[in-house]
Amino acid sequence: MVLKKVGVVGGGLMGSGIAQSAAQAGYHVLLAEVNQELLEKGMQRVHGAWQMLTGKGKITTDQAAEYKERIHGTLRLEDFSDRDLVIEAVIENLDEKRKLFKTLDGIVPAGNIIASNTSSLPIMEMAAVTAREGRVAGLHFFNPVPVMKLVEIVKSIATSDQTVEELRQFAVSLGKTPIVAKDTGGFVVNFLLIPYLLSAVRMYENGVASMEDIDTGMKLGCGYPMGPFELLDYVGLDTTLYAAEAIYKEYPDPAYAPPTLLRRMVQSGRYGRKNGKGFYVGAD
Ligand code: CAA
Repeated sequence: MVLKKVGVVGGGLMGSGIAQSAAQAGYHVLLAEVNQELLEKGMQRVHGAWQMLTGKGKITTDQAAEYKERIHGTLRLEDFSDRDLVIEAVIENLDEKRKLFKTLDGIVPAGNIIASNTSSLPIMEMAAVTAREGRVAGLHFFNPVPVMKLVEIVKSIATSDQTVEELRQFAVSLGKTPIVAKDTGGFVVNFLLIPYLLSAVRMYENGVASMEDIDTGMKLGCGYPMGPFELLDYVGLDTTLYAAEAIYKEYPDPAYAPPTLLRRMVQSGRYGRKNGKGFYVGAD
């Protein structure tokens, strides 16, 4: 089927980035949030990005105006009753996601795809509460969404080949490169990235080196754009912890066990850039 109307649930960093990318690619986008304040924040993030791109001369003011016309906000999931594709990007909490999938299943036309941007939770657990398990898949974007070229398509044991193919075409239409992964903890990227980030925290806990030196080591020694502590602040300490816990649940290997320092940082409300408190940001 030809996808035209896209719904995105959740206007946080990931959801607003997905909405921005889809609107730029020509889709009509409806972005849903739970209250007016969060909705305005999400829409503002998207409009702010287009303002930044206009200021840099990367898009024209006419293009920015055209993109803006293609994206609208809503507080009512019922408005998704005409969507060809819905992508959820809400909090990484399985109960919340299952509740949302059940609600969406009663609203989004039967036969249309409902995808999750989860970074590590089992897709099958979400598909199981719907009456369309073949039309549910993971569609995992990377932060910052408009810049990062990868999308992981996650195929549960029930996802149909047609669903994977339609999502592959959708990802390509956004200018992304899709890869297909099985519905196993961490999929491809986080299965490798999360233990690397956790190891960096353990090295720092054990006094092997300072955060700055560990970051410099990986940037200059391996050519990474950010060191692990910069990336932890960027991705979110809470997001990293939830992903680690989800993977550890499936693979109880010490490499995936969240280190105490990461737990304490999250328990104390240090989430990274998103709330201005993390390893570097907001540090005394
Ligand atoms: N829309 C379009 N373009 C945007 C944009 C937006 N919203 N935000 C930034 N850009 C563009 C900028 O215009 C800029 O373009 P030019 O270089 O052509 O001017 C470019 O992106 C880079 O932006 P900046 O100059 O602001 O920043 P930078 O050069 O320091 O790069 C970075 C920032 C892209 C984040 C880079 O540091 C990087 O690649 N870091 C690693 C990010 C990473 O690893 N992400 C994956 C995290 S893991 C994850 O997301 C999965 C998970 O489940 C946890």
